[in-house]
Amino acid sequence: MQEIGIGLLGLGTVGSGLVRLLEKNGEFLARKTGIRLRLRRILVRDPEKPRGVSVSRKLLTTDFEEILSDPGIQIVCELMGGLEPARTYILRALKAGKYVVTANKAVLSTYGPEVFAAAEARGVGLFFEAAVGGGVPIVKALRESLSANRIRRLTAIVNGTCNYILTRMTEEGLPFSEALREAQARGFAEADPQLDVSGADSAHKLAILATLAYGGFLPAEKVYTEGIETLEPLDIQFARELGLVPKLLAIGREEDGRVEVRVHPTLVPETHVLASVREAYNGFLLEGDFVGSVLLYGLGAGGEPTASAVAADLLDAARFLQAGARPGPILFRDRPLEIKPLAEVESR
Ligand code: NDP
Ligand code: HSE
Repeated sequence: MQEIGIGLLGLGTVGSGLVRLLEKNGEFLARKTGIRLRLRRILVRDPEKPRGVSVSRKLLTTDFEEILSDPGIQIVCELMGGLEPARTYILRALKAGKYVVTANKAVLSTYGPEVFAAAEARGVGLFFEAAVGGGVPIVKALRESLSANRIRRLTAIVNGTCNYILTRMTEEGLPFSEALREAQARGFAEADPQLDVSGADSAHKLAILATLAYGGFLPAEKVYTEGIETLEPLDIQFARELGLVPKLLAIGREEDGRVEVRVHPTLVPETHVLASVREAYNGFLLEGDFVGSVLLYGLGAGGEPTASAVAADLLDAARFLQAGARPGPILFRDRPLEIKPLAEVESR
């Protein structure tokens, strides 16, 4: 049995979900894979804060250097969120030769090339399934199973918080602010929920998906972005009367090597497959030139589904470490993607 040491950065919604998963399934995973994932240190801001999980106080630290300098930690798992210090810690871990698993779409969609290059230069792995889709395996689908296709079109619901809010407003007439409070209480929202409702989090995720689908880095700032804050209950009522459902969609299209990327509220016919994606679920409808239509669906936010993706990445990283294998590059080309200017975007 090989033991792999993990330094966890963050013990909030997702970090706690991971602790619970390792507690509940750790033995089963060890029997199944021959790898025991062991949490050696956990970085938090406030070690005295009451937590919903049982972790020994001795594991908690406020000093990242303790994690970086521990030779028993082979994988750093970043679940803090935000741009800084998350970016710096990820880069320092990679440069120190540690594998990194992260759920941080803000860092990846902003500093992707720097982070990917650091992993490649050191020959270590960077895994980020949880950054898009929570528990839905969309990152692996694009990087692996569907990688031989040209993805002509991607239409997706990628933000659980917005989808939860829209569902509660549409089906129960809840006011926006109350629905947002519920989404926060359930652990779906970002620490700054403005990232969710403004569409920025969806833009981060679409940028990552486009980067993976088309092979060149697409920064989130290139995504045309509108959020759901301006939607009024009356808009929703009229839409319902016309048999339409409001959804915050992330849309990517490729034509002649140029990519169109946008996030905005859209009225979807009740009969459309994405109309039935409710609450904090995400849905990804992909059109590949050879595979045809593929639909992926599942919980896109919350501690447990996201921990499922994080733990799978930890196992993937551990397998590379066990085999002494060098992971391949994340980007296939250095050139950024060519974006279609909005004026050329076809009418919605
Ligand atoms: P939380 O805000 O619940 O937790 C963040 C954790 O990080 C806390 O434990 C906090 O410490 C710690 N932390 C934050 N900043 C620092 C710092 N500067 N130094 C030390 N510790 C720090 O976030 P989530 O768990 O919700 O999200 C984590 C990541 O996962 C984010 O990148 C998010 O976008 C992503 N994600 C979240 C999902 C979700 O459903 N919530 C789903 C998919 C991805 P303390 O507890 O002491 O305050
Ligand atoms: N705040 C994000 C959402 C978390 O609601 O989708 C999952 O990435």
